[in-house]
Amino acid sequence: MGTSFQDKSALVIGRPSGIARAVVEAALAEGAEVVAAGRDAQKLRDGYGDAVRAETVDVTDDASIQALAARLGPVDHVVTTASARARGLLGDLDRESLLQSFNTKVIGPAMLAKHLSITESFTLFSGVAAFKPAVGYLGVAITNGAADFLTRSLSLEMAPVRVNAISPGVIDTGIWDALGEPGKAEYFEHFRTHNPARRIGTVEDIAQAVVFAMTNRFLTGVTLRVDGGEPLT
Ligand SMILES: NC(=O)c1ccc[n+]([C@@H]2O[C@H](COP(=O)([O-])OP(=O)(O)OC[C@H]3O[C@@H](n4cnc5c(N)ncnc54)[C@H](OP(=O)(O)O)[C@@H]3O)[C@@H](O)[C@H]2O)c1
Repeated sequence: MGTSFQDKSALVIGRPSGIARAVVEAALAEGAEVVAAGRDAQKLRDGYGDAVRAETVDVTDDASIQALAARLGPVDHVVTTASARARGLLGDLDRESLLQSFNTKVIGPAMLAKHLSITESFTLFSGVAAFKPAVGYLGVAITNGAADFLTRSLSLEMAPVRVNAISPGVIDTGIWDALGEPGKAEYFEHFRTHNPARRIGTVEDIAQAVVFAMTNRFLTGVTLRVDGGEPLT
């Protein structure tokens, strides 16, 4: 149990599992008062119990963001993990899924920055696809790339509030389950044997980086790549 966030408030946007949950748990362990927000507050309440305050927000809906901002008032740290990834080969991608991806991970965070009253740090999420393009991940890559550039611009506009992004590599949060058990095992084995870290990342690896971005008072405008060195391969 640490004290990095003693008397601090932290808003974490995302589902009550995966990376968002690890960030919530890390912030709680460091003494923060945590608000978890997502499209379904009841799901968050069921997932976290009384440990956190559950709130509703849809990051693609400005009225929803403004309503959250009014209910919260000033908040010290904000982290958004919200994502609606547009995976697929170019021939299968449609405008709607690309727009939804951008709306969730790029425009949404821009509107959060505009409407919330953030006093210390804002942490966004990018992802390894931006740094290592791969066939079938065009939509994910361009969304994450835009999140990186948004991070830099926001760090200037929101100064002295610090703005950073975390770019995870392959983390087993359930998002790879769509590959099926054998497909996922093969995919993970490939990364485990090829990346310089020789393993798949954990949600704790990512939460640790988020806490660093939230607390290091000289860090702003950067994307921390916590990806096992995957783009180097
Ligand atoms: N896991 C990985 O391997 C990996 C790799 C690279 C990057 N990342 C990035 O890391 C972040 C967290 O990843 P993750 O795997 O833990 O979770 P994830 O599956 O990407 O979770 C994203 C969650 O965002 C919420 N969301 C979607 N649209 C929203 C909206 N309009 N408003 C509010 N919330 C919305 C959804 O929760 P509800 O369904 O509960 O609403 C969704 O489950 C994401 O940004 C992801 O792109 C992950």
